[in-house]
Amino acid sequence: MSAASDKSLWSSGAERMCRRIDQNLGVLKSEFPHWANSQTGQWTTTPDGDWTGGAWPGMLWLAAKRTGDTRYRDAARLWSSRLKPRARLQTAFKGFGFYYGAALGDVLCADTDAAALALEAAESLKGQFDNRLGLIPLGGDAEESEDVGNSFSSIDSLQATPLLFWAAQKTGDASYADVAARHTSRVLDVHMRSDGSIVQSSELNPKDGGIVRHFTHKGFSDDSVWGRAQAWGLVYTAIALAHRPQEKRWMEQLMKGADWWLANVPSSMIAFWDFNDPAIPDTETDTAATAITCSALLKLAQLALSEGHRARYRDAGERTAAALVGNFLTPVGENRDRPDGMLVGACFNKRRDARAQDSATNAETIFGSYYLFESLNVLDGLVEAARI
Ligand code: GLY
Repeated sequence: MSAASDKSLWSSGAERMCRRIDQNLGVLKSEFPHWANSQTGQWTTTPDGDWTGGAWPGMLWLAAKRTGDTRYRDAARLWSSRLKPRARLQTAFKGFGFYYGAALGDVLCADTDAAALALEAAESLKGQFDNRLGLIPLGGDAEESEDVGNSFSSIDSLQATPLLFWAAQKTGDASYADVAARHTSRVLDVHMRSDGSIVQSSELNPKDGGIVRHFTHKGFSDDSVWGRAQAWGLVYTAIALAHRPQEKRWMEQLMKGADWWLANVPSSMIAFWDFNDPAIPDTETDTAATAITCSALLKLAQLALSEGHRARYRDAGERTAAALVGNFLTPVGENRDRPDGMLVGACFNKRRDARAQDSATNAETIFGSYYLFESLNVLDGLVEAARI
């Protein structure tokens, strides 16, 4: 057993994060948390949840499952219902909000209203599939800085996959799983390079789906490896495999991508915002990318086919979680006035073309916090990694 697998580290980290959830419940009104200032804990919010907001009810569903406290469940129901205006937006990224914000209410708490809302969004998302492209394009309402619409794709759009697989399971309608599988295969094939690293974005020919160009919306350069591009590719491929363990190619791609991360992440286990920023080590970390990858490694630790691989990924997942809790989950550092349980050190978007609401570094992001909280609940034995 590694030092990192001391269970008290996971439960004390999760309890700190529950204290932050309690504090959030006290200050948030009707707008969704997006990112918070790491010195004050003050949130920048979005009125409708943007792509990120579903992570907040996602944390509340997890807290309800963890504690059995109806206060969390009631809050999860309320915040989940507030996502409804986004259910029919034309964006592949709504898969994120409605999977974590609503479908998780079904998976963890058997909540029927949340399930109905998640199905409404899933049905609309399935309708966005484009046969000529072989995938769900970003869509005209997609929340990125620029270059979005029906002939653009990105690895981030794998956010559609979990919601569609969940809908297939929930309804017994195989067409959801078919779209999820085709989208997953095509997005991975377009964006994963032969060495296992991932390029974020692509423009496709709307007539035949051919790749016009690769580029990045949020990374350092078009041929760099943006931390969250790698992380999103890993976590959603792991979720896809939990639904279709027989897909050998996905497993090969997932292990190649995870091995690439482990070979390139610093020995601290914390990724910089982009693996190719020439300013490394004097540049920003991205603890959100690191937390997303932690979740992926813990899923891989359950799904990998050999015992040796499962043990290796479990160890990597534990070391990643321990590094996040030990160095970036408040209280850490000199400022003891800020709230407990904030995962600081996330780089939301540091580019000049960032949307105003995304322009933040060394922040707490609601999605980074979701994935660390999920990982701690998995390590604590309260939630099964491959079930969510
Ligand atoms: N578009 C998802 C992200 O910024 O990570």
